[in-house]
Amino acid sequence: MATITHPVRRPQVRQTDCFIGGQWQPAQSGQTFATLDPATEEVIAEVAEGDAADVELAVRAAREALERSDWSRLDARDRGRLMYRLADLIEEEIDELAALESWDNGKPIRDARHVDLPLVVDCLRYYAGYADKIHGQTIPVRGNYFSYTRREPVGVVGQIIPWNFPMLMVAWKWGPALAAGCTIVMKPAEQTPLTCLRMARLAQKAGIPDGVINVVPGYGPTAGAAVVRHPGIDKVAFTGEHTTAQIIMREAATSLKRLTFELGGKSPNIVFADADLDQAVRGAHFGLYFNQGQCCCAGSRVFVEEAIHDEFVERIAAENQRRRLGDPLSAETEQGPQVDRAQFDKIMKYIDLGKQEGAVCVSGGKRFGDRGYFVEPTLFDGVTDEMRIAQDEIFGPVMSVLTFRDLDELVPRANKTIYGLAAAVWTRDIGKAHRLAREIKAGTVWVNCYDVFDAAAPFGGFKMSGMGRELGEEGLRPYLETKTVTVALDA
Ligand code: NAI
Ligand code: MG
Repeated sequence: MATITHPVRRPQVRQTDCFIGGQWQPAQSGQTFATLDPATEEVIAEVAEGDAADVELAVRAAREALERSDWSRLDARDRGRLMYRLADLIEEEIDELAALESWDNGKPIRDARHVDLPLVVDCLRYYAGYADKIHGQTIPVRGNYFSYTRREPVGVVGQIIPWNFPMLMVAWKWGPALAAGCTIVMKPAEQTPLTCLRMARLAQKAGIPDGVINVVPGYGPTAGAAVVRHPGIDKVAFTGEHTTAQIIMREAATSLKRLTFELGGKSPNIVFADADLDQAVRGAHFGLYFNQGQCCCAGSRVFVEEAIHDEFVERIAAENQRRRLGDPLSAETEQGPQVDRAQFDKIMKYIDLGKQEGAVCVSGGKRFGDRGYFVEPTLFDGVTDEMRIAQDEIFGPVMSVLTFRDLDELVPRANKTIYGLAAAVWTRDIGKAHRLAREIKAGTVWVNCYDVFDAAAPFGGFKMSGMGRELGEEGLRPYLETKTVTVALDA
């Protein structure tokens, strides 16, 4: 943690307007909204509140850039070079960006600086390398014809992202879109618009042509909905709540937009009695409490084999006692506030509900302090499959422990959820690990680890956890259309 001074200084907020066609401009309506510091509930800055009128301008700029020769005729390798340059510029400002992210979101500076930011840089570089490796095939068709495929950018893409990993979500969305040669209209989350705007500034500085990336901050039902409805947008990539994805899917039916969704989860984290218990306790704790529990893949249903149940619960509770909550910009802090009042209220409601349902609150369960949206790390024991706290995505620092007897009983219980994003298994028995990896319905299964992310490894959900995959080669596909060209050879 050598690079973090204590405590980190609040950076200057430089970008608060819409970024459209390379210009910074207030919303057409003149409206602004406040983005808050969730640790103090104080206003950080007023940000342009974009709506349909701004989205209209952004789509025009993106469409124009898509066809302009400085983007459409740019050699693929040079497109990649611009992306490498953006990654370099982010790395040069890594401390300041981490501080801005920590301030706007509330996540501890050590996480922003050492987890989020390195993944951002890595993701952009990974996809930069793809820019000149996107190619079609020659197809042996019947008859005297020459047939080949071209892989072309899908066009103008609308990208709507949440607040839990603001910059990382930008990288996951921009990386494949830029590599494919698309142009972008992005709507960042209303809770955390600042780092996305700063990244747009760096993209311009890197030499990415004006209009290729446009950012319209604002609210979901106004700016977000306008992105979904606009006929000039070819594809929407969305990360957030599954109920929002259902609205988007209905709206997008009119123009038959291509859609990819990365949604929520209620991921089972399964600890067998034969696991390395030190490792499993650490992994399960991290897998749930990391990022204040605000992870789509949080291991929120912890299934513990009966024989080790008591020791496991005791040790998680002890970890919670030790956890350092406080100022996100302080280098020592391990847990910051939840992102906003709405999330705080939702979590407190679920904690009450868990108690009413008869689960045992072993640790936490209360607000921490009297300022900011802090929630104590909370542990529920004696949770059963039907309880709401075992079914709904809480998106906060609330762990539910469920007990199991054997593998046959476990599998259907682990799969008894509308979601299917991630899962983990802790065991020394490789047969058991691989059997579960096959039988759990989830897009990612971790064995003896949790939250291991890599730009090269596809990520996404089964069932209501999503549609399509992000990252890896699979993450590129939704940004490409395949065109078949057939040429008569004896014409
Ligand atoms: P949300 O789905 O409402 O918001 C995510 C993004 O979609 C934001 O940019 C928002 O402005 C936009 N949006 C909202 N309504 C829209 C609409 N009608 N049309 C177009 N865009 C729209 O999620 P929210 O309210 O921030 O969080 C609520 C819950 O969702 C959380 O408690 C958590 O359970 C889940 N969630 C899951 C995430 C994930 O990574 N899978 C991320 C954020 C939230
Ligand atoms: Mg919402």
